[in-house]
Amino acid sequence: MSQLTYNLDIQPFARAGNRDSLEDLQEKHGPSKIYQLANNENPLGPSPKVIDAISAVAPTLSYYPDYSDIGLRQAIVRILGRGLTTEHIYTGCSGFESLELIARGFLRPGDELILSSPTFTGAYAKISQPLGAKVVDVPLRPDSFEYRVDAVLKAINERTRLIMLCNPNNPTGTVMPSESMKALMRGIPDHVLVVADEVYHHFVDDPAYPDSLRYVLEGKNIVVVHSFSKAYGLAGLRLGYGIAKPDLANYIAGLQRGFHQNKLALAAGIAACGDQGHVHKVVSYLRAEAKWVCAQLERMGIRYWKPAANFLLFETHMPGDDLQGALLERGFLLRAQTRNELPNAVRLSLGTREANQAFLGALGTILDESN
Ligand SMILES: Cc1ncc(COP(=O)(O)O)c(C=O)c1O
Repeated sequence: MSQLTYNLDIQPFARAGNRDSLEDLQEKHGPSKIYQLANNENPLGPSPKVIDAISAVAPTLSYYPDYSDIGLRQAIVRILGRGLTTEHIYTGCSGFESLELIARGFLRPGDELILSSPTFTGAYAKISQPLGAKVVDVPLRPDSFEYRVDAVLKAINERTRLIMLCNPNNPTGTVMPSESMKALMRGIPDHVLVVADEVYHHFVDDPAYPDSLRYVLEGKNIVVVHSFSKAYGLAGLRLGYGIAKPDLANYIAGLQRGFHQNKLALAAGIAACGDQGHVHKVVSYLRAEAKWVCAQLERMGIRYWKPAANFLLFETHMPGDDLQGALLERGFLLRAQTRNELPNAVRLSLGTREANQAFLGALGTILDESN
C-alpha cells in the first residue's frame, strides 16, 4: 500500500505554537495590569459605528454572507478616490492574507522574493517559503535604515518575482522617500512585481512619502496593501485589501474562495470606511503621542528612530531580550528585535498617554538599576 506523499517542493513552517494570550500573561502576572504595547494595535479601539454595525448583523449569522465583497470594495473606493474603481481592489481576511494571495498568485518553487531587513521578515518568509520560493535579503543601510535601491535592482535576476517594500517599515518605523520609489519603479524589469506593504500609511506625516497609488493608476506592476488592523482599530476582525491595476486585482481576487469575507467583516469594513472622522481622531492622537514619547526619550538620553507609524524603535545599552523581560515583570509587553538582528533594540507600540507615561517610568527605573 502506498504512503501519503507530502509535497516536497514546499518548505512548510512549524504549526503556530501557543503564545501566551494577554489574559494568560495577566493571570501569571498577578493583580497589576499588563499593558499590551507589542503588536502595533490601536489603543483607542474601533469606531462606535463599527460596533453598531456588527451588533446589527450578529442576529443574522445563521445566513451566509453576500457571495461577493462588492459592497465593501465600493466603500473602499469611496475613501480612496483618485479615480480608482472596484476593479482595482481585492479584499483579504487581513493585510497578511492580502499579501499571501499575491505570493500564491506569483511564486513557484525556485522563484525569488527580495526583502530588505530589518523588516516584516517573518511574515514575508511565511508567505513565500511554503511555496518553495527563496527569500533574498538586500538589507537596509545600517543605522539610518535607508533603502538601497541600487543594490535591490542589482539583486534582480530572471527568478525574481516579488520585491517587498514595507513603507512605513516595521520594525524601524522609517519611510522610503518618493525619490527612491521612483528609481525603483523605473528600474524594475517587466517580470517583477513590487508589493508596497503600506498598512501603516495613515500615520505618515512626511511630505517625502511616496504616492504609490499613482503607480497603480499608471498601470505599473505594483500591488499596494492596506489593512483595517491599524488606524481603523480592527486587528481582531482580520480584514485588509490590495490595490492594483484591474487585471492584476481581478487575478488575485480569483484566487479567493467564495464567501471569503464573513458577514461581520463586511458590515464592519463598510461602517469603518464610513467613519473617517474616527480615523482622523486616532491618527492625530497617536501622532501627538509619538512626538511626546520621542521628546521624553530624548530627555532620557535614549536613542530612537523618528517614527512615521504608530510604533517606534529605540535602543539602549541593555540586550533587548533582557529589557523585554524586565519590562514584562513590571507589566509592559513590548517586542525585542533580536530576531531582526538588532540585539539592543526594542519596539514600542504607542499606547494611550497613560500607558506611554507608565512605560517610560518603568523604562527609566530599569535602566537606572542596570547601570
Ligand atoms: C508591515 C506589516 N504588514 C502587514 C501586517 C499585517 O496586518 P494584518 O494582517 O493585521 O492586517 C502587519 C501587522 O502587524 C505589519 O506590521
